[in-house]
Amino acid sequence: MQKFPVPSLPRAATRTNTLRRPLYSQWQRLKHSIPEDVATLAKLADLNPSKLSTTNTTTPKEVMPPEELVFGRSFTDHMLSAEWTASQGWLPPKITPYQNLSLDPATCVFHYGFECFEGLKAYKDSTGAVRLFRPDKNMARLNQSASRIALPTVDGSCLTALIAKFVALEERFIPSVRGYSLYLRPTMIGTQRTLGVGPPGSALLYVIASPVGPYYPTGFKAISLEATSYAVRAWPGGVGDKKLGANYSPCIVPQTQAATRGFHQNLWLFSEQGENGETEEQVTEAGTMNVFCAMVNKGTGKKELLTPPLDGTILPGVTRDSVLELAKERLVPEGWNVVERKFTMKEVAEASDEGRLLEIFGSGTAAVVSPVRNISWQSRLVDCGLKEGEEAGPIAKRMKAWIEGIQYGDEDHPWSFKVSG
Ligand SMILES: Cc1ncc(COP(=O)(O)O)c(C=O)c1O
Repeated sequence: MQKFPVPSLPRAATRTNTLRRPLYSQWQRLKHSIPEDVATLAKLADLNPSKLSTTNTTTPKEVMPPEELVFGRSFTDHMLSAEWTASQGWLPPKITPYQNLSLDPATCVFHYGFECFEGLKAYKDSTGAVRLFRPDKNMARLNQSASRIALPTVDGSCLTALIAKFVALEERFIPSVRGYSLYLRPTMIGTQRTLGVGPPGSALLYVIASPVGPYYPTGFKAISLEATSYAVRAWPGGVGDKKLGANYSPCIVPQTQAATRGFHQNLWLFSEQGENGETEEQVTEAGTMNVFCAMVNKGTGKKELLTPPLDGTILPGVTRDSVLELAKERLVPEGWNVVERKFTMKEVAEASDEGRLLEIFGSGTAAVVSPVRNISWQSRLVDCGLKEGEEAGPIAKRMKAWIEGIQYGDEDHPWSFKVSG
């Protein structure tokens, strides 16, 4: 076997070096005697809500009548932002009038997709108090997305505190009508001016807010899905479990194609070879929602609420987690099994054919739950169990009522985070 020469380290760099040892113990002693604030100077600054500065707009917008709101079209008066540099960390956050960003055309976000985002809502309860729903979950997911693409992370509780201040300032934009809310879009981008492919040396975090109406203004409307396997949304070892802008743009063409055939969304399948060598088309997500399937188990005859597991191809939805938690708490005592496991489109079709498919629904911040009427798969339409004239199954209806009850503060629950009032 060929031997490679092992370079000898210079004396000063070895651990056993007798000259270095006293210096190291001196540093240890010194480190403990340095006051906290001086010691942390060497550390990069974290996002600091106490350093927030606010510049109010001089041209306040008119609040639109609730019935005219279109998702993501109108924005509030201000935005929250903070810059980060690799040498300093997070600079003091700012609330400023809502405004354009000015970025050099060579900025890395435009070339290599250094962008991740979040989506959460602020709700006004019956007393006029403003509430967020499980913001800690969005903050944790933002950090997971950011760190996957070499962007900096934030202290989640500090960003929540800043968002709370921002939302309190924009309170007049949140309609006091049930079903309405203020959609919040935290976004992080790499801002280094370079065409070099590498970790961004600077970043911008900003949060904008858009007042939104209920997803179903006239009550539930069940959707039709097109099972899609010719295009793949996410794959093992990929980034489908992160909320990166780069995951969304490639889904638009398949979605448009499904729409031309009369379907509202794609049901994203992931094909894998099963143990018997057959291709298994696993159900993953519906459009930009997680998927739940209620069926009677063929073997046990027990009712089951199924959802695919978080195996890296599924976005860990805040609503998904809430549905699972509430199902465990409230449906299990009624005899349901709540199961996170892979399931295939073939299983769904078989359950439908055998009358065991009870209902299917998507879950997400936008609609809470979105009932599915049917799925186009292999030249047939799989019926998802809704009765004629029915727009939602009982589990979807109950989940929506339970989750909205918490979001709008009807039910006192630790998931509801009071911003003001
Ligand atoms: C791909 C995808 N899956 C699932 C969800 C649902 O996640 P959440 O419940 O956190 O809104 C979203 C929405 O953000 C999404 O974009």
